[in-house]
Amino acid sequence: MTTEVPQHDVSQSERFNFVDFARDRAYRDANRDLLRKAFARLPSPFFQIDIASGTGLVAQEVCALCEETGKHGTIVGIDPDHFAVESATRSTPSTALCSGEVIEGRAQDLERLLKGQIPPGGADYVTIHDAIHEMEEEDKQSILVSVASILRPGGLFTYNSAFTTAALGQAAMQWGKWKSKAFSVLEGKRNRRMKGLVAHSPDEYLEMITGAGLSVVHEAKKSVRMSRTALEAIARYPRFVWGVFADLIGEEAIPIEVKSQALITALNELGITEIPRVWHEAMACKPLAPAEGRA
Ligand SMILES: C[S@@+](CC[C@H](N)C(=O)[O-])C[C@H]1O[C@@H](n2cnc3c(N)ncnc32)[C@H](O)[C@@H]1O
Repeated sequence: MTTEVPQHDVSQSERFNFVDFARDRAYRDANRDLLRKAFARLPSPFFQIDIASGTGLVAQEVCALCEETGKHGTIVGIDPDHFAVESATRSTPSTALCSGEVIEGRAQDLERLLKGQIPPGGADYVTIHDAIHEMEEEDKQSILVSVASILRPGGLFTYNSAFTTAALGQAAMQWGKWKSKAFSVLEGKRNRRMKGLVAHSPDEYLEMITGAGLSVVHEAKKSVRMSRTALEAIARYPRFVWGVFADLIGEEAIPIEVKSQALITALNELGITEIPRVWHEAMACKPLAPAEGRA
């Protein structure tokens, strides 16, 4: 019998957040390449919804593309994390070409949160970058259906995730060693019956996207070099820390400071300087006419 992973408070804070990881050059580049692909197909002006906007990376990159090309855009971010919303709002000031806001809320409530904001024909572009794996299992498909419903015909959707069955790639041993060492730093034991976080395969994500009525026009797996600095930064992101220690017996009694430090100590003890991680990405388009047989 397996045991469910208990729900935890994974809120970001001044000390433990995604800000530093989102600054990482390799992470930015992986996102920028995908955003650039979609951006080239956007009209001017365009209207974009960035779901799970986090600390604002997508809006920052898209605004930079507006400055580079002269296109005008409005980007509305949505994220349930209060710290992330404030951080994104601070770090993505509106310019003459690019404006928007960040709304605190969950993707599950997308249509209610955006009531009255979406242009009559629908949004030109919706993004969910590095976040779908964090969304509740039972809601993933219906979130993608909402994405399809707010897009205009011909509108674009991009997704990427570093938490799929392809993520560890050739480096599975290195990721495993880091986790084992962190457990031993805490002198912790693993609950082998604890069902870990669900990692979907890239194909399963593509099926969810097409199941929502979108047509996949691009797909890739990218190996991103996570430098030592990036690994230390991700060890300060509450969701990551929670994920690593989800199956540690008694983990709920251990403060995040201690778990985060155990990850950094493990990096030191193993002498890790970098570990690659595979990002899966896709771009999809809402068909111009409803597909045959679809309700
Ligand atoms: C790893 S961060 C990525 C943030 C940003 N998209 C980026 O690429 O930098 C994941 C974000 O997903 C958000 N998130 C988790 N569950 C969510 C949900 N149900 N609805 C919307 N956002 C969610 C978290 O609060 C977090 O800010």
